[in-house]
Amino acid sequence: MEDSCTLIIFGGTGDLVKRKLVPALHQLKYEGLMDEGFNLVSIGRRNKTQAEYKQDLFDGMVNYTKLLIHEESWEFVKNRTTYFQMDFNKPEDYTLLRNFLNSKVDSGEYSPNFMFYLAVGPENFGKIVNLMDQNGIVKDGNNWNRLIIEKPFGVDLDSAKTLNSEIRKVFKEDQIFRIDHYLGKEMIQNITMLRFQNAIFEPLWSNKFIDNVQIVVSELDGVGSRAGYYDSTGALRDMVQNHLLQTLAITAMDPPISNDPDHIRDVKVKLMSELVLYSDETVADNVLFGQYESYKNELNIPHDSKTETFVAMKLYIDNEKWRGVPFYLMTGKKLEEKTAQVTIEFKFPKDIEETCSTNEIFSLNQNSAANVLEIKIQPREGISLRLNTKKPAVINETVVAEMEYCQSCQNNFNTPDAYEKLLLDVMKGDSTRFTRWDELALSWYFIDSINKKLVPLYHYGDNSCGPTQACILLKKDDRKWWHLNKMKRGETHENL
Ligand code: BG6
Repeated sequence: MEDSCTLIIFGGTGDLVKRKLVPALHQLKYEGLMDEGFNLVSIGRRNKTQAEYKQDLFDGMVNYTKLLIHEESWEFVKNRTTYFQMDFNKPEDYTLLRNFLNSKVDSGEYSPNFMFYLAVGPENFGKIVNLMDQNGIVKDGNNWNRLIIEKPFGVDLDSAKTLNSEIRKVFKEDQIFRIDHYLGKEMIQNITMLRFQNAIFEPLWSNKFIDNVQIVVSELDGVGSRAGYYDSTGALRDMVQNHLLQTLAITAMDPPISNDPDHIRDVKVKLMSELVLYSDETVADNVLFGQYESYKNELNIPHDSKTETFVAMKLYIDNEKWRGVPFYLMTGKKLEEKTAQVTIEFKFPKDIEETCSTNEIFSLNQNSAANVLEIKIQPREGISLRLNTKKPAVINETVVAEMEYCQSCQNNFNTPDAYEKLLLDVMKGDSTRFTRWDELALSWYFIDSINKKLVPLYHYGDNSCGPTQACILLKKDDRKWWHLNKMKRGETHENL
């Protein structure tokens, strides 16, 4: 009973439902993780019969996912879905929704555990929550009420605060699940495991041994059909404020005192509060924007748009563990490849305090390369580690050995989609992988310190690796982006 639930989605005819949520429900059923008491009420304004709506969902799964559709699982989702036509702007329509839900719960058909999913623009969050409350839909008589909201949560700290206070009038903090789908990605979750379950990593996880950290999310696709949203948002708010900063927090946070969701979020909050803010004097040297060449020709993008589709930045964390270590973040659309990875570049042995003065062997070989740990989030999931080894038969020369573990290449390995895990988490009431309000507020506080007017905007070729200035940002520090590592394309370490 505790896990059974009625999922009520606002925005039922949108892409998210077809592309992500329904496929995730199908998979949860297939994997035996779905409670038999599950039902879905999907709300939309369009006039559709139940059969038409379900056909749309099915076509969406076929067209947008690579899922192998299992008849039994699809039948389950289909039979448990009801399309409910209403206009969420009209207060009177909420009475119809309430009466419908009440009758289903009273007859025992639906679970009284309500999971509300707002898959609509954030400008509608406050209104919907309010009208649900006024019409007695979010009521104490329900066993539990949980609210899931998609990003963007505001456009800056002030708007996020306003939004939050509207929602908090109805839902308590522990009932709110703010989705950042990166937190549901397998390898992002693996970062914690890798750090805290390996004696060879966590003791080295600090400025004493680490030279720099790079967090990169590059995308092949351009803005697609999301011009309206994207052009008023830009890459900084669309990607950095949420996905990249969350990845950074998990990579750099202190060890939590336990697995309790709040303990984990406490250490992330601490980390967010230690990010060094930019000032008008420092921002232009440390942050740069890009825009892909054909962006202004995309459908519905203004011809004079200055929206950034690419961000590269250098930031610091002001705490004992990380003081002095640069964190380089990069994200962009229409780049040469789709990839997401976290790279930890260790210091050269000769540069580590304890080793250099005491033993000459550490500075003996000038060819040694830095040890580099790459955590590959997508499309391949895995880990690679670069080590220096002795070149066979040549005295005192090193050669780089790259050890690679590819998780997604394992036989029968089927990575669950982030939404599967996140939906299951909400059903179970586990908020570990959701953003708490204080984390979110601090991430906006940091992003708001970037005065966008002072950040230079460069153009870059479609399907390129971004503006050359992004490489210069690292070159100035005598470093390079590891995801552009040419070794993988057949060149040798010496040519890098
Ligand atoms: C979304 C952004 O949150 O994440 C999109 O709004 C972006 O612009 C997407 O394309 C990237 O997600 P993923 O899972 O494909 O890396």
